Amino acid sequence: MYKLARHATLRQLQVFEAIGRLKSFTRTAEQLFLTQSTVSTQIKNLTEIVGVPLVEYVGKQVRLTEAGRHLYAACQDVFRALDNVDVAVANLRGLTLGALSVSAITTAKYFVPEALGRFSQAHPGIDISLHVLNREHVLQRLANNEDDLYILGHDPPTELEIESEAFAPNPLYVMAGRDHPLAKSGRRLTLKDLAEQPLIMREPGSGIRAAVERLFAAQGLQPKVRIVLSSNEAIKHALIGQLGISVLSLHSILLEGAQGPITVLDVEKFPLQRKWHVAHPKGKEPSIVARAFLDSLRAEGQRLTQMLNELTSSLPHSRSKKPARRAPGRR
Ligand code: PGA
Repeated sequence: MYKLARHATLRQLQVFEAIGRLKSFTRTAEQLFLTQSTVSTQIKNLTEIVGVPLVEYVGKQVRLTEAGRHLYAACQDVFRALDNVDVAVANLRGLTLGALSVSAITTAKYFVPEALGRFSQAHPGIDISLHVLNREHVLQRLANNEDDLYILGHDPPTELEIESEAFAPNPLYVMAGRDHPLAKSGRRLTLKDLAEQPLIMREPGSGIRAAVERLFAAQGLQPKVRIVLSSNEAIKHALIGQLGISVLSLHSILLEGAQGPITVLDVEKFPLQRKWHVAHPKGKEPSIVARAFLDSLRAEGQRLTQMLNELTSSLPHSRSKKPARRAPGRR
């Protein structure tokens, strides 16, 4: 009895928990900043303490044995409880000291840094980190519990155990360089017209790409992808360079406005109305710092909604578009 409690170390359990979650020695080593041989040694020592194998290989795939699954569930309980202690201690310190880590999808870079800047001015003792990634990578960080809050471009997948809240609209529009012939013609396009145009597409894993692919597939159409670019800003420059047309969030042109070098085309089925969501795993109570930032995001949502409404009404074909009315509330 008490073999594990007496002999296993927290480090061994941490390594084992990461193996159970990531199903890979290599990724465990990367995530914990260890060498692979340290990871193997920790698991070997832990296995000797338990007395039966904890992991097995099926082909090249790492799997947990039955004993491994029991231990993994216990590790999750232990680390969740320890996380909650961290949060409780941070809460005791209030908003004077602490850290805030946020992951956000690419279009959120058009407002999250500013929101964080304002937050940081109000709470200068808080260390802030922001990871700007595509949807797939943000969801990966969420699954690995790497940050306090996660900002997504539209509803999170239903299978994830998370709490989420919509806080601002994030509509997708078809865009082109100001001098593009379609921009000059000013006529309303069908999706079929769109399918005939060279399209600048985001990379696999992008939420915008997934939305575009879903729309085309639903109409039995195939986009004519001219080039794949993984940055919204690079896409804007490619639009100016007349490489084709593209689908982007309206936030991408918030700074330049409707009279800038990029223009919005009038295309049936567009805009694709989506909402920004902020999420955190269920069962992980956000720290006082994360809760304070959540509050400021709600206020930010009101501000953004107003800015988007103004931009929407200045679009060339705004008569046919209804502006977003107000910041959406809790889901
Ligand atoms: P993406 O998300 O960076 O994954 O394309 C952007 C968005 O959905 O607005």
